[in-house]
Amino acid sequence: MIKVDREFEIVNQDKINQGKKQAYSHRVASGIHGFDALINGGMLRGRTYLLAGPPGTGKTIFGIQYIYNGAKIYGENGIYVTFEETPDQLRRDMLHFGWDLGKLENTRQLILVDASSARIGLSSQENYIVHRPFTLDSLLSDIDKNIETIDARRIVIDCLDAAELHAKSSEEYRRYVFRLSAILKTLECTSLLISESPGDGRISRYGVEEYVTDGIIYLSSTLEENRRIRKVEVVKARGTSHSQTVEEFEITSNGIEVQMYRTRDRALKRLS
Ligand SMILES: Nc1ncnc2c1ncn2[C@@H]1O[C@H](COP(=O)(O)OP(=O)(O)OP(=O)(O)O)[C@@H](O)[C@H]1O
Ligand SMILES: [Mg+2]
Repeated sequence: MIKVDREFEIVNQDKINQGKKQAYSHRVASGIHGFDALINGGMLRGRTYLLAGPPGTGKTIFGIQYIYNGAKIYGENGIYVTFEETPDQLRRDMLHFGWDLGKLENTRQLILVDASSARIGLSSQENYIVHRPFTLDSLLSDIDKNIETIDARRIVIDCLDAAELHAKSSEEYRRYVFRLSAILKTLECTSLLISESPGDGRISRYGVEEYVTDGIIYLSSTLEENRRIRKVEVVKARGTSHSQTVEEFEITSNGIEVQMYRTRDRALKRLS
């Protein structure tokens, strides 16, 4: 198991070396219709990506879809740490898309970690929880344990802002996101760290996560002709080429579906 010392150094050198060996070549597909083409076929294995956007833009659905497809289509087990919704709420809501999370939990392909109860100081009936009292270190150690339990390859943390509240300063938060990102890499996980954007055009409040993570996927929405249009953009992706365009997406009964070129087609239609 990975151990973190008081100076927040990772001390298991074997794991680090293994992580480095695996970190190149492979692409990790999200399986989200139309999305992987925006990032040249998929995210890079072992990297950490920031999934940001203002409230209600589809971050949780994107995150769950990434984990669900990983287990169902690509044979990669996943961990979803939820700070906002309870696991039960997620299990219920995701059934609307035909994603039976409970089934994946039963077959040990998925662990839903309840961080929502610890955060507000309530007890939880869940099997996997972030222990109280909630600290950044207890979160890291619980994540580490759960990754080992099912040999997870994908992890989503929804969302970082909850942890930010527990950091005493932006510097401590920066160190925390950095450590989190480093530990997930050594464990060979391809990770999405969800973060809420302030809604004023900035991706994150302090800019910390943007520098520390390997890539940024930004979800947003605009009002056009009295209709809310959902948008997705790969803002940065270290080590790979990626789309430079903002594309539209819809949330359908199958989850997120990216509609390539729809923005361009709409503009052309207006001109004709
Ligand atoms: N079954 C569904 N079918 C279609 N659209 C849905 C469905 N369920 C939710 N949505 C849409 O998705 C939005 C919520 O998506 P999601 O929870 O992923 O957003 P979020 O970015 O995580 O929000 P928050 O910042 O509040 O956590 C809803 O506001 C709604 O517009
Ligand atoms: Mg959410």
